[in-house]
Amino acid sequence: GGAAPKQAKKVDYVTVNDYGSSIFGRLQSLFKKAIEDAFPGLDVPLLLAETPNPQFGDYQCNSAMPIAAILKATGINKKPGDVGKEIHAKLPENIDFVEKIAVMPAGFINVFLNADYLRKQISSLALNGISLPKVAKKRVLVDFSSPNIAKEMHVGHLRSTIIGDSICRLFEAVGYDVLRVNHIGDWGTQFGMLIAHLYDRFPDFLKKLPDISDLQAFYKESKKRFDEDEQFKKRAYECVVKLQSRDGEIVQAWNTICDVSKKYNQIVYDHLDIKIKDVGESFYQDKMVELVKWIKENKPDMLRKEEGRQIMFPTGCDVPLTVVKSDGGFTYDTSDLAALKYRMLEEKCDWNIYVVDAGQNLHLETVYAAGRDFGWYDENTQRVEHVGFGLVLGDDKKKFKTRSGETVRLLDLLSEGVKRATEKLKEKGRDAVMTEEELAAARDAVAFGCVKYADLSHTRTQDYIFSFDRMLDDRGNTAVYLLYAYARIRSIVRTSGVTDSQLADYLAKTPILPLNHPAELKLAKQLLKLSDCVLLVLDSLMLHQMCDYVYNLATLFHDFYNECYVIERKEGEPVVVHFHRLALCEVTANVISTCFKILGIREVPKM
Ligand code: ARG
Repeated sequence: GGAAPKQAKKVDYVTVNDYGSSIFGRLQSLFKKAIEDAFPGLDVPLLLAETPNPQFGDYQCNSAMPIAAILKATGINKKPGDVGKEIHAKLPENIDFVEKIAVMPAGFINVFLNADYLRKQISSLALNGISLPKVAKKRVLVDFSSPNIAKEMHVGHLRSTIIGDSICRLFEAVGYDVLRVNHIGDWGTQFGMLIAHLYDRFPDFLKKLPDISDLQAFYKESKKRFDEDEQFKKRAYECVVKLQSRDGEIVQAWNTICDVSKKYNQIVYDHLDIKIKDVGESFYQDKMVELVKWIKENKPDMLRKEEGRQIMFPTGCDVPLTVVKSDGGFTYDTSDLAALKYRMLEEKCDWNIYVVDAGQNLHLETVYAAGRDFGWYDENTQRVEHVGFGLVLGDDKKKFKTRSGETVRLLDLLSEGVKRATEKLKEKGRDAVMTEEELAAARDAVAFGCVKYADLSHTRTQDYIFSFDRMLDDRGNTAVYLLYAYARIRSIVRTSGVTDSQLADYLAKTPILPLNHPAELKLAKQLLKLSDCVLLVLDSLMLHQMCDYVYNLATLFHDFYNECYVIERKEGEPVVVHFHRLALCEVTANVISTCFKILGIREVPKM
């Protein structure tokens, strides 16, 4: 049970200044305005979608039907077809990307794209490179990964790491100011027992970093002693007190334990190309003291004493936050309150995102509700948001564990991926045609790419089944398939015999590429949709939408390549190079590469 209210008003946090090639974005704003002009003050959501059947154009606006229904309820009888015509009449006469607009009797407004517009846009992408829509700059903090020291990073943290990093990459791609924050659990009473245990097990820890290969086991050992040995327990408490009062040697012991853990995590981050800055719970120690003082001075009514604890119920919440424990210590709640205050008031974020498993939703929403009660952020301009995700499951659909029921060590998991990727490449005979370096690059791209892509391509909010077999399948929506597709496209250009400067010369002389074959035009449309996709994901933070996009792109490229010769080699005849198709290959590869960058997939030119 338990509930907390969500941030009420959704801030329009993505402000588009220039839609670039996003046709969908431009259509949206055109239709919004036309509907507003034709039926002022009518509060209807815009229904705009891609048309399922190309016979009816490329996009369709389906707002006429609900509008007719609303009008009817107020006593005005208008057929949806007429409503559609009135909306159509308010659209600008000439829209550069529109060939024609047809209003169906049932009210559907069908939009057909102008092929010359497509040709021009693709030519510009070929000549000038990929450009993304321009959005207003935002300062965004992304709290992700955030493992706990001494309790090993597990697959849940891996999910947070992968999703969080990709969200950061997307934000960076559109020019946001991004703070990548690792809110590690590096503070709390458990450090007392860890430090006491460290003194016993590694008495010379001050001189050299102890070789604790299994921090998890170390944690368990110390926990066992803590539970069974009164003497040890007492020492552990003394260590906590000393740690909090910044006793030099105890702080060093604490640092040692953190370093051991961070060193391990860093290997995982290096494999996965993750950049992140530690701003853990310990960072808030003084700020938590300040916070409690601040609440007592400014909002004393919010605090309530219960069995020695100081708790608070934010507005609309029925599970309280524990601000101070009965022994005077702080909790996870306290550090998150202090972190929220700091992020909104000191870091001055426009957007504060927490990439944390869905199980922590209640905790986070309760903290956010407290932040609103305290007036730490303005809901009309700032946004605080939990970006949740489901569980990682094993093949048996139960929580992902080792056979013996232990937490899976992430480094073991990644090594397994590397092993499987090596087998996969051998199976395809790639070891025979690539140099050792190329093979190693391909192996790592496959191993780490497949783990990341499997995670990102599943709907974030749902649980997903971790399966190497599935993620290494080269026929489905997987990183392997895409990496192959990408390498193949690059090799078409590489082996065409056409040099970069020859292609550049051609493009400079050809402002409109002669794209006429249906497969060329289909591919061209999909290429232009990159901008739509970026805007969509910027709003939803659902990265599987980008995976779907790039997968569809690769499939459409495949169709195009099957139907259209890029290079024609006929016996006894000179080789014919279709330059405009070569340009289409280049643009496709560049768009895939842009998606890879956002998804955090390492591209390799050869596979
Ligand atoms: N350390 C926490 C855990 O492992 C996640 C922290 C998420 N971030 C936050 N600000 N609460 O469960």
